Amino acid sequence: LKLVVLVSGGGTNLQAIIDGIADGSIPNTEIKAVISNNKNAYALQRAKDHNIAAACVSPKDFADRAAFNQALLEKIKSYEPDLIVLAGCLVVIPEIMVDAYPNKIINIHPSLIPAFCGTGYYGLKVHEGVLKRGVKVTGATVHFVDKGTDTGPIIIQKAVEVQQDDTPEILQRRVMEQAEWKIMPQAIRLIAEGKVRVENGKTIITE
Ligand code: GRF
Repeated sequence: LKLVVLVSGGGTNLQAIIDGIADGSIPNTEIKAVISNNKNAYALQRAKDHNIAAACVSPKDFADRAAFNQALLEKIKSYEPDLIVLAGCLVVIPEIMVDAYPNKIINIHPSLIPAFCGTGYYGLKVHEGVLKRGVKVTGATVHFVDKGTDTGPIIIQKAVEVQQDDTPEILQRRVMEQAEWKIMPQAIRLIAEGKVRVENGKTIITE
């Protein structure tokens, strides 16, 4: 499976994919490139450290959003990916990209969708919402990307306990360690093994 991974920040989910490929838990898979909208994303450094092509396509370098969207899609297409992985990616995915790669883009969101997702819920804000509402269980979700925000068919979810004295930072770390870094490689493995299909907007996993 040829991957292009889109990142915006630290790249710990990217690192989980790199490690999963290296230790054989994700078979027959290669990261062709890592692309970030943020030239300072440490995720780009992680790619370089592993001799993976790293590129920055920033909205700041384009006259308008449509030009950025077009440039990003062309950059992605140049690597001929089988799957596009959003790993800590804060870019709104343009419709032209979803049209070009239907059910071939996956995203990880740090909550149990449909809770605490959609516009305004990203990064720490997700965990702030979880603590504000006082839910006892949260987690992470890997899903296919459609034209909505965090609305595509769900592939894998993993629950994580919320603890009494959690801060958003402590909770974010637990969700990453106990859920994100496990289900992201698992989802890619399932797709690489041809075990995931979508019917009526829901995934069917044939283990
Ligand atoms: C994490 O909170 C993750 O859930 C979200 O972006 C944040 C950073 O991810 N998708 P990463 O360390 O850049 O993979």
